[in-house]
Amino acid sequence: MRSSVAVVGPYAADMTVFFYAILFARYPQTRGLFPENLDVQRDRLLRGLLRIVDLVDDRENLVRFCGRLGRDHRKFGAVDGHYPAVGECLLASLARYAGPAWSPKVAAAWRHGYGIVAQVMMHAAEEDARTAPAVWEAEIIAHRYRGHGIAEITVRPDAPYPYTAGQYASMETPWQPKTWRYYSPAHAPRPDNTVTFHVRALPQGRVSQDLVYRAKHGDMVQLGPPDGDMTLDLCSDRDLVCVAGGTGVAPIKALVEEAARTGRERPVEVFLGARTAEELYGLEDMLRMSQRHHWLTVRAAVSHERIAGLEGTLPHVLNEFGPWHWHQAFLSGPASMVKQASAALTRQGIPQEHIQFDPFDVPTLEAALLPRQLREPPQD
Ligand code: HEM
Repeated sequence: MRSSVAVVGPYAADMTVFFYAILFARYPQTRGLFPENLDVQRDRLLRGLLRIVDLVDDRENLVRFCGRLGRDHRKFGAVDGHYPAVGECLLASLARYAGPAWSPKVAAAWRHGYGIVAQVMMHAAEEDARTAPAVWEAEIIAHRYRGHGIAEITVRPDAPYPYTAGQYASMETPWQPKTWRYYSPAHAPRPDNTVTFHVRALPQGRVSQDLVYRAKHGDMVQLGPPDGDMTLDLCSDRDLVCVAGGTGVAPIKALVEEAARTGRERPVEVFLGARTAEELYGLEDMLRMSQRHHWLTVRAAVSHERIAGLEGTLPHVLNEFGPWHWHQAFLSGPASMVKQASAALTRQGIPQEHIQFDPFDVPTLEAALLPRQLREPPQD
């Protein structure tokens, strides 16, 4: 399998276009599962397959990855009958682009490998279907525009939404059907089952722009299953340091609320950062929380303006405080900030396993391997 992937690697983009072309021609019923604009997804499927090839000798991670992928595919509407169709078109594409490297032995290895992966995905989906819906229909019950292209959107899912503070959720809007994007709830689970997201309209992000500028009270969105490992370890006695840039404050706020709910009063230090004071987002909310909780310290830093308070980027400001070696760190925000803050905290002696942040890319593509490793940011 590896040898053929190495051969098709340079033709990956063409191969993926070919794969979708024959899939939709031979099995037109699958077209409706995918978004109209397939540019983003094209690359994802291939990367998913490459990940499988990467993990082919790592049984535990392979099963974990495929299980997660299979559960997640419920929200796409994938059913058992689709797997042979996808497998057939995938192998036909590989055969075409691998050329002479596609020997009977290689073909047999792929048939076998795909068969196992498909089994694990289908089994995980079946297990998941016993206890959870594929998607949660959720009504927007509040929409607050907070300036600077950011909106706070509260939704009420039609069934209990089983997320843990710090996790993220995927969302599909009525305006970009079949296009799923990831956002983090900004609070611990509520008894009334509502969930609030902080969404920033990205320049090229059609979903986020619709959510910020178009969505209104009464509109319906769909939520996929919550996921993510950036959650509080209730057994740990480490103090917490939380670092948030921009709308990265959402999961941090949720984690602080969760820390308050536990009643353990372990010290939590929050650093919020932005380029200018005006862009500092979520500071007032966090300051209000710090007035209620003596164990919570909130500091804000701006990097591109002279102000009375802290000046500099978050990684730089972190170096001025501490020591952090006895802390558990939660980082959330732009990838460059998270990477630098992680490096700064590592230099200060926090072991990697005590520095947590969300995956930067398509979560399912990263989740199987250690989620705390540094990768690229989620894109809308
Ligand atoms: C070995 C089998 C498969 C692998 C490795 C695979 C891999 C992936 C990956 C990695 C993603 C991106 C996940 C994300 O965005 O969160 C994805 C998305 C998707 N897959 Fe699969 N998949 C497989 C089988 C199938 C089958 C059988 C169907 C049904 C036709 C399917 C339909 C979809 C759809 C509709 C999406 C979402 C497209 C989008 O977000 O743009 N997949 N797949």
